[in-house]
Parts: sequence; structure tokens; C-alpha cells
Amino acid sequence: MSAQIINGKEIAAAIRAEIKEKVAALNEQGTEVTLAVVLVGENPASQVYVRNKIRACKECGFINREILLPETAAEEELLQKVDELNEDPKVNGILVQLPLPSHMDEDRVIRRIDPVKDVDGFHPQSVGALSIGLPGFVSCTPAGIIQILHRQGIDCDGKECVIVGRSNIVGKPMGMLMLRENATVTMAHSHTKNLKEVCRRADILITAIGKPKFFNHEYIKDGAVVIDCGINRDENGKLCGDVDTEDILEKAKAVTPVPGGVGPMTIAMLMYNCVDAIRLQRR
Ligand code: GUN
Repeated sequence: MSAQIINGKEIAAAIRAEIKEKVAALNEQGTEVTLAVVLVGENPASQVYVRNKIRACKECGFINREILLPETAAEEELLQKVDELNEDPKVNGILVQLPLPSHMDEDRVIRRIDPVKDVDGFHPQSVGALSIGLPGFVSCTPAGIIQILHRQGIDCDGKECVIVGRSNIVGKPMGMLMLRENATVTMAHSHTKNLKEVCRRADILITAIGKPKFFNHEYIKDGAVVIDCGINRDENGKLCGDVDTEDILEKAKAVTPVPGGVGPMTIAMLMYNCVDAIRLQRR
């Protein structure tokens, strides 16, 4: 039997449609939703991400602020901009696109964002709140994966979940969220011994290592659900994930493709966080 290919594009479109309705209802009560997106420099990948985020904002009925600073801007200039946005009551969400130019300290910039406007979920307060179950923003990619699992009716309770990759943005928050789902969580990474054996334990395997087509059928348990967070280029320059999708189809029960799996969910969850910001800011 061949694995189900999970359609992240379709799930993300459904979430954006739900958000659009919520925004329309808020607008009727006289509340607008505003996201400020800050882009420093001209990194082409960042420009594409920002363009896609702004397009999704428009689709959902948000107000947009786009702040462009030159590559040569001083860190202090960016911090002042963040302060201004923090203090502006019309701005609900602030997103500073990463990576920043090397002369800037990303951690310092993230820490400057008011946690009630931290729609990326990167502020230490957001990360801490997630780890002890308090209200706060959740990083968009892991939050999107939870939505995929819920909306596909995949039960995580008591299941073996292996997460490969321990980044602050994906792996670590993913671990916290899967614990919240009552999964038994293993965090694997570049120093893990016997990675194949560890992965073969997984009922749910989540990969976020940035290595093209690294995970083949030898890493997969029969009937596993495989969630691929990689965005890589293969030897022909074609977009691909961390998983060799073709190679695992006969073993896995379901798999997210790249592109069209986790990627579109990340932006949908950013939109979700922007609406959630209104609720958090009213508390
Ligand atoms: N750069 C790559 N992914 C992201 C993201 O989710 N948020 C921000 N702010 N920058 C990124």
C-alpha cells in the first residue's frame, strides 16, 4: 500500500479561510488586525518569504506595515524601530525576518519585541511559556505540524514520536508540543548514536535537519507518519525535503511532501498567531 501524501497546501488554505472569517467578525466590532513585518537588507530568500507573508495577510484581511531597512542599518536603528512598533497600539504583531545581517545580534533584537506582539514565538518568554504550559505564542512551523496531525485525525496519545533536529525554531518547540499531545518524545540530533534504529521506533517521525533526501526507507517503521520540515535543493537544484519521499512510500502510512506540506502551514499559523494576539492583548 502506498502512503497518503498529506496536502499541506489545502489544510493551510482551510485555516486561512477560517482566519479570514474571524478577521471579518473582528472588523465588524471595529477591531482591525495589523501585522508589522521588518526586513533588513536584500536577502533574496527573505524577500520571497516576506512577500508570501504579506500576500497571506492581504488574503486574511489584515492591515500590513512593511518596514524595509538597508543592509547597512545600525542595530540601534532596528531596535528603535522595534520600540516604536511595541509602543504603537495599532500594531498587534511584530515579525523581524531572520537572518539579520552579521553585524546585528539576533537574540538582542528578538528580546526587544514585546512578548504580547511576538507572533513568531521566538522571544524567551514565549518559549518559556510553551515549556510550562502558560498562554503565549507558539513558533509557527511546529504549531502548523500540530494542526496537520489534528486535522488528519492522527492520534498522538501514547505514540512514539522521534524528532530529528534540535533548533530553537522547530525541534525544541516541537518536542514541547508533542509532550502536550501525550506522545513519548525522543529528540535526536547530529550526535545521536544509531540514528536509524532510533528513527525506526517512531510512530511519528518529524525531520528538521536540512539535508536533502537524507531519510530513506531504512529509517522508517512500517505504518509511520512522516513529517518533513526540510527545505533543501537536490543535486538538480530542485526543491526537496529531508526525506526521500519516493523511497519511503511503501513503508510509511502518511507523509508530508516538499513543497506543499509543512511550508504553507508555517505562514497559515503566523496568521493564526496574529489573530490570537488580539486575544492575548485584551487579557
Ligand atoms: N526566517 C526563516 N524562517 C523564519 C520565520 O519563521 N520567522 C522569521 N522571523 N524569520 C524567518
